Amino acid sequence: MNATDVLRDEHAGIERMLNVVEVAARRLQQGQQVPPDVFRDATEFFRNFTDGCHHAKEEERLFPSLEEHGIPREGGPVAVMLSEHEQGRALVRAMTAAIGPYAAGDPQGRAALVESALSYVALLRQHIFKENNILFSMADQVLSSTEQSQLFQAFETIERERTGPGEHERYHHMIEDWERKVSTW
Ligand SMILES: [Fe+2]
Ligand SMILES: [Fe+2]
Repeated sequence: MNATDVLRDEHAGIERMLNVVEVAARRLQQGQQVPPDVFRDATEFFRNFTDGCHHAKEEERLFPSLEEHGIPREGGPVAVMLSEHEQGRALVRAMTAAIGPYAAGDPQGRAALVESALSYVALLRQHIFKENNILFSMADQVLSSTEQSQLFQAFETIERERTGPGEHERYHHMIEDWERKVSTW
């Protein structure tokens, strides 16, 4: 398995959580109630997995490897990806901050949650599309199979060091659980 395929697989998991969040945010937008826990779980997943693990693999390992092949960090697709990671962090912070007020019945909290959640969903979907179809295709062209397997190993190390044992399984179940619940709403 190529290192870039690991990242593509992770994108698929992230997209499933984005779908759950979109359904929840649309319901809020329509004035219906959803359990605040859906946003608590989703923001924990986005912080620890999407950012803490997946973006770490990209920023600390993939992007530097691309730089070695003349794909610059500044002023090109990598710079765009980095700035979108930053925008994503800000939106997850905004979403997290709005959960408590929403749970307490504050209409502004509800509006802020809808706004930050839908913005995050839109940002990440187009970000993932660009990585899958542009950046990772470039990576697959320039990286040798040795470099791909070195990256793969480096990803495993990040995984071991940043995510505790059993965390991936827990997130997998968390996503499945919310998909099931959301499908009954
Ligand atoms: Fe990314
Ligand atoms: Fe990514």
